[in-house]
This record gives sequence, structure tokens and C-alpha cells, in this order.
Amino acid sequence: MLRVDEVSVSFGGVQALGGVSLESRAGAVTGLIGPNGAGKTTLFNVVTGFQRPNRGQVSMDGREITALRPHTRARLGVGRTFQRLELFGSLSARENILVGIEAGRGRPDHGGVRRRQAEEILERVGLQTVAERQANTLSTGKARLVELGRALATRPKLLLLDEPSSGLDQSETDTLGKLLTALAGEGIAVLLVEHDVELVMRVCDQVYVLDFGQIIAAGNPVEVQADPRVQLAYLGADVGTEPPAPDSGAGVGG
Ligand SMILES: Nc1ncnc2c1ncn2[C@@H]1O[C@H](COP(=O)(O)OP(=O)(O)OP(=O)(O)O)[C@@H](O)[C@H]1O
Ligand SMILES: [Mg+2]
Repeated sequence: MLRVDEVSVSFGGVQALGGVSLESRAGAVTGLIGPNGAGKTTLFNVVTGFQRPNRGQVSMDGREITALRPHTRARLGVGRTFQRLELFGSLSARENILVGIEAGRGRPDHGGVRRRQAEEILERVGLQTVAERQANTLSTGKARLVELGRALATRPKLLLLDEPSSGLDQSETDTLGKLLTALAGEGIAVLLVEHDVELVMRVCDQVYVLDFGQIIAAGNPVEVQADPRVQLAYLGADVGTEPPAPDSGAGVGG
């Protein structure tokens, strides 16, 4: 579905991405994790067309999309949410979702099809009780769910989620996890940037780890969690001051 080949991005002297390659397959949840500043959001911007890479290619379904505008990619089925929420604050939760339906790859609106679609999505993301509320009066967690609903409303084939669980309570996070699994089950390629490692390990089929703009590990969640480079990248300088045990490695992780 999505293929990223050797993508590099520099901001002045800062190399945010240095030759990143990855794939996000239809029917799977793919995780992209890594410390703050690793380049995760920059990669999403490259995939969605908000950031032109200095080098490298992005393709979807075998078609190169590296130079296409964001709205053109959206029409091809690329949907996303933002790390910093980007909702229409003065509109209700339902209206935000209707905007997504109208912007998306929807069919003509005969007999209130769009209204019904909006109700289905509100139910799916668990927002029926706050559907009438103005988006800027909602908690961060509920606002994130509105954004997810709006992205779903565009009927994406590839869905990129930038820290969707940030601000969600435990029950909302559980609902989110089940929803992501269900979306993959419907054939969507889900690419998930997430700091909640427990959620990533629970829902992802494949995980990539980005550190300082480089993929340092990739594999299934269990493999990735056990990788010493990943533990080092996450645990950082505290671990670096303690040399690893030469024979067993028993002092690392756990
Ligand atoms: N528009 C920009 N101009 C200059 N530097 C930028 C810009 N966007 C990102 N960067 C830099 O690129 C690097 C990667 O940033 P990015 O936001 O992609 O990281 P991230 O993995 O999403 O981090 P976080 O987990 O904090 O969201 C950082 O060093 C950041 O400061
Ligand atoms: Mg980010």
C-alpha cells in the first residue's frame, strides 16, 4: 500500500530524516515509534504532502506520489490526524465529521446518506453523547476522537495517526485500540505514531523505530521491544553511563 524509499529531509542544518524506508500494508496496523524529535511527524508530513523531501520517494499502490499536493493525495485515499489538533473549533463534533464526509471520496448525498454516515462514525469513535457540542469545548481526548472521526469520514485507504491516544483516558484508549484493529480488518493500512508503547505493542502487526532520523529497528512488537538499540534509544543517557554487562546483558531493560 504505502512505500517510503530512502526519504531525507533537512531543515537548515538539522537533518530530520536521513534515508528512511518503510512500508505500511493494507489490512495491518504499522507502528512508528521513537523519542521526541526523532522525525515521526516530519515523515507523516512527507507522506501526506505537507513537506517535500530533499531526497527519496513515496508511493501508494505502486504509484509514485512524492510530488503530489496534499489534497490530491487525500483524493487518492490518504487520511491523517495531527499531533497538534486541527479541528474547526466553532463547529460541533458532528459538523466536523460532516466536513470530512463532504471533503472525502463520498458519494452524492441522496436521501440523507451523509447524515447517516456521520451518525455511524460518531458511534464508532464513541462520540454520540457529545455530537452537538462545539469542538473547542471538548476535552483533548474527545477532540482527538473527533479528529479521528473526521479522518475516517474521508474513507481513507491509508490512515496516518499522529499520537491519537494523547489526552485519552484509559477507556477511550481501549476503544481506540479496538477501533484500529477493526479498521485494519476492513483492509485499511493504518500507520500509527504513538508514545503509548503498551498500546503500540497491543495493536501493531509491525513496528518501526526511528531515532535521530534513522530507522534503527523494525519487526514484530516482541522483537522490537527486545532490541537493545531500541532500549538504548528510549532509555537514553542514563543507560549510556553504565556499560552493558559483557556476558549476559542482564542489566539492560526488563
Ligand atoms: N518546520 C521545521 N523547521 C525546522 N526544524 C524542524 C521543523 N519540523 C521539525 N523540525 C526538527 O526536525 C526534527 C524532527 O522533528 P519531528 O517533529 O518530526 O519529530 P517527532 O518524532 O515527531 O517528535 P515528537 O515525538 O516530539 O512529536 C526535530 O529536530 C525538529 O526540531
Ligand atoms: Mg511529532
